[in-house]
Amino acid sequence: MIGAFEHLVRPLLHALDPEDAHVLTLKLLKFAPVLPVARDDPRLAVRAFGLNFPNPVGMAAGFDKNAEVPDVLLRLGFGFVEVGTITPRPQPGNPRPRVFRLDADGGVINRLGFNSQGADTVLRRLAARADAGGIVGINVGANKDSADRVADYVALIERFASVASYVTVNISSPNTPGLRNLQQATALDDLLARVVDARERVAPNAGPTPVLLKIAPDLSLAELDDVVGIARSRRVDGMIVGNTTLSRPPSLQETKRAREAGGLSGSPLRALATRMLAETYVRVEGVFPLVGAGGIDSGAAALAKIRAGATLVQLYSALVFRGLGLVAEIKSALIGALGRHRLDSLAELVGADAAAVTAEPWPG
Ligand SMILES: Cc1cc2nc3c(=O)[nH]c(=O)nc-3n(C[C@H](O)[C@H](O)[C@H](O)COP(=O)(O)O)c2cc1C
Repeated sequence: MIGAFEHLVRPLLHALDPEDAHVLTLKLLKFAPVLPVARDDPRLAVRAFGLNFPNPVGMAAGFDKNAEVPDVLLRLGFGFVEVGTITPRPQPGNPRPRVFRLDADGGVINRLGFNSQGADTVLRRLAARADAGGIVGINVGANKDSADRVADYVALIERFASVASYVTVNISSPNTPGLRNLQQATALDDLLARVVDARERVAPNAGPTPVLLKIAPDLSLAELDDVVGIARSRRVDGMIVGNTTLSRPPSLQETKRAREAGGLSGSPLRALATRMLAETYVRVEGVFPLVGAGGIDSGAAALAKIRAGATLVQLYSALVFRGLGLVAEIKSALIGALGRHRLDSLAELVGADAAAVTAEPWPG
């Protein structure tokens, strides 16, 4: 049914400005009667951060920034949904246009700049669905004009811990000036110390809330050494690798659109993101699990992320080009891979290719 619906609607969405198309998609999802998908094959189940995921395919942050449709997305077959980025106070983000499709490349450039309805509104929505079940992570960020960005993260953890399956500390958006500086060693150590402390403080009431760190794929390997070292010493529960890239691969065909400022995602990001994932995996040494994101546009791409070190995967941009049917396609490809390798769980494939990927020439 989703397939037939999308077949009719996708050409219409593609004719619209990408942000208008997104707003319309959210409206359609809100009102579309979506029946739950069949139960996932038990071999797709993943345990990570103390949570039981029915399958490893998640909706990445940015699609449902204000937690309007997390339960619809879960019913459509995602194993988990990450809402946000949420900022403490509402803010409009950058002027439009601020989202661009690179059709020939299967890429997207966005410079939304954390447009958010703010913590109060989103918290109300999440509190209303708190007993609905399913894994809903909450991605948090700082207001653009905040005087104390670390305090923003701390406040959001305190407020959202009780309604979040996990919280993602997003310090990797390229569209809030200076935000990525929080990835630098001293700043990151201070941030994570305070974030983890906030999590511990609210745990007696909120329960245990895993804290994940989402990084940019544009870090140098020396910076990645620091980031992983600090994430390990501050005992975060996992990392997401990663966000959009400021780089522009020379292979891009849409050279005019590629000059738009903002973060690039989708297929042109895949090689870099997978390389950074493998580099992270070898540094983490199994201490915590990783979520792989960036350019997943097929079952094979999802499997490659898992083999490069991802316990879970997330996607967004490819849904623009391929539609929501991609989720089912990825899950059946993963089941196919398990069958071929005669395995009962994806865990045995996680990181199988990490060393090999890090030995390849740097993707360019
Ligand atoms: C339009 C758009 C908005 C995004 N907004 C956010 C966001 O608010 N917070 C965040 O952490 N990542 C955001 N992302 C990044 C995605 O979560 C993901 O990390 C990245 O796009 C790579 O995955 P993909 O290639 O499958 O899209 C956004 C991506 C896009 C395309």
